[in-house]
Amino acid sequence: MALLEIKGVYKQFFADGKEMEALHDINLGIRENEFVCFIGPSGCGKTTLLRIVAGLEDPTSGTVTLDGIPIKGPSPERGMVFQEYSLFPWRTVLDNIVFGLELKKVPLDEQKRLGRQYLKMVGLESFETRYPHELSGGMKQRVAIARALVNNPRAILMDEPFGALDAQTRNIMQSELLRIWEEEKKTVIFVTHSVDEAIYLADTIVIMSARPGRIKDVIEIPIPRPRSRTSSEVNQIRDRILCDLRSEMLTC
Ligand SMILES: Nc1ncnc2c1ncn2[C@@H]1O[C@H](COP(=O)(O)OP(=O)(O)O)[C@@H](O)[C@H]1O
Ligand SMILES: [Mg+2]
Repeated sequence: MALLEIKGVYKQFFADGKEMEALHDINLGIRENEFVCFIGPSGCGKTTLLRIVAGLEDPTSGTVTLDGIPIKGPSPERGMVFQEYSLFPWRTVLDNIVFGLELKKVPLDEQKRLGRQYLKMVGLESFETRYPHELSGGMKQRVAIARALVNNPRAILMDEPFGALDAQTRNIMQSELLRIWEEEKKTVIFVTHSVDEAIYLADTIVIMSARPGRIKDVIEIPIPRPRSRTSSEVNQIRDRILCDLRSEMLTC
């Protein structure tokens, strides 16, 4: 059985007195430890779908289950990493990371031990007493990843987490994320605008169509990691995805 099951999910919004369909009949199973990337035109409902999986939004109809149990609301078992830096500016790096443990009333010593373990994993050991404004964009996202992982989640949900980074930092963060994923073996759902990013990272790429968002294509990427960004295999997959996306742009 899949870890996460998305079944018959529809989402309608009411805006300006009108009904708008954001998601149309989304069905997908995601395996334990699978790295899934969602890609699709802007406004096709990627964030909405991620928010439904996070439990921040209810579907209009359909269900999302984790381990067969319907998702009812947000939980640290589904850690989120957003594009916009979402750290608490008044907390140090370590205190940002242990926030979820604090809520769970984990003993202070254990909070610090776990916090430092994940700080080390994301390569920021020497930054534990710094504040978010002292960090670069890439470092802030490392902290956000550590903050999600420290709660030992079943899945990590990432919404264009590297979208605001420069190209070089973005490439480094992609490799870092894969290194951490190999160590921790978590299920990852990763939304991106970048075809190259999706091919570099994913086991499975889900291509969504323009509004209302539907699943247009699901592509398995069987290429071993670390992947070249330019091999002929990668170029072939890129062509297929770009063709899928281009046909969406022309019909919207
Ligand atoms: N809370 C909301 N109220 C009304 N419309 C919304 C709301 N959230 C998203 N939408 C609309 O739903 C569609 C999908 O949005 P979104 O999931 O953010 O797309 P994406 O992340 O793929 O760019 C868009 O047309 C957006 O304007
Ligand atoms: Mg979005």
